[in-house]
Amino acid sequence: MKTVVEMMRDGVHEDGIRRAGEILRKGGLVAFPTETVYGLGANALDPEASAKIYQAKGRPSDNPLIVHIADWESIGMITGELPAQAKLLSDAFWPGPLTMILKKSEAVPDTTTGGLKTVAVRMPDNAIARALILAGGGYVAAPSANTSGRPSPTTAQHVAEDMDGVIDMIIDGGAVSIGLESTIVDLTEGIPVILRPGYISQKMLSSVVGEVRMDRGLLIDDPSVHPKAPGMKYRHYAPRAPLFIVEGERSRVQEKINALTAAEAAAGRKAGVIAADETSGGYSHAVVRSVGSRGQELSIAQHLYAILREFDHMEVSVIYSESFETPQMGAAIMNRLMKAAGHQVIEV
Ligand code: TXA
Ligand code: MG
Repeated sequence: MKTVVEMMRDGVHEDGIRRAGEILRKGGLVAFPTETVYGLGANALDPEASAKIYQAKGRPSDNPLIVHIADWESIGMITGELPAQAKLLSDAFWPGPLTMILKKSEAVPDTTTGGLKTVAVRMPDNAIARALILAGGGYVAAPSANTSGRPSPTTAQHVAEDMDGVIDMIIDGGAVSIGLESTIVDLTEGIPVILRPGYISQKMLSSVVGEVRMDRGLLIDDPSVHPKAPGMKYRHYAPRAPLFIVEGERSRVQEKINALTAAEAAAGRKAGVIAADETSGGYSHAVVRSVGSRGQELSIAQHLYAILREFDHMEVSVIYSESFETPQMGAAIMNRLMKAAGHQVIEV
């Protein structure tokens, strides 16, 4: 299959959106930018179209998809009874990087929800995404547009690496603004539960709906406790080289990483280091990549997946990363980094 690339880095092009919408209406696949990561879109109400997504990604079909809508009025058709919290959270955070788990209606096919009786719904805040959803019929199922097991794409180039020749179209809207997938909150059981941390933090959610919990499967490192979002149980992404997070006091972390990378160099190998602007100058014997300044959470989130992809293209033997606990997005950043590291942490 020839994958068409539609350039929209300078904004929405109506003719390109019309062609993309037509592909979706006919049951095809279009990758598009959102504010979080690039999505791989299909008509969410067409069982065959959403089934194609699993094939393109090589993703297990019990892992449900998020249905993207462009306006609040669209939610009634795909959901059952709506808790009051849904409207409150929508008013506060939609359009934006928040996904709500709600009871599903008959209109949503099992291929979209992986057989679950609930549906994940999100209204993205990206002009291209919103125009595409409307042009495609109002309901676009879209997981991240990566091959299963690779980091989510934050540029159209990343999407092309994984999807060229496999899908109908890629819309290039430039680099995304957030860089980590949306926060997922489950509203089907009374007290809201965060199933996946993201830009919208527990504190921000609580300020609107009161008590909000974290899924136990996210908090404890015990494989017998299953996370409630089916996708969170998969070892999402493992870099080619083993990845270790080094935690502790700033100067001791730097000392430890330098000792480890020196040992690699002495053995004739090259290590990779993930650091912040404040510390990236302090490493030797290694390929160093900075996620940006520690004071700029968005910069850290924006660069993380691209750096992990870059290290996959290089011949590094091992990767050491500093830890990035930050006030708002720290939980999300460390959740993704820990998954990539397979929870390997070196404490100093
Ligand atoms: O930011 C995002 O959410 C991006 C952009 C494209 O919108 N999408 C995204 O989709 O990250 P995906 O498929 O990579 O991740 C969806 C997650 C998976 O972990 C899945 O298991 C969970 O949402 N999920 C979907 N429906 C669910 C449901 N009904 N109950 C529990 N978890 C659900
Ligand atoms: Mg994904």
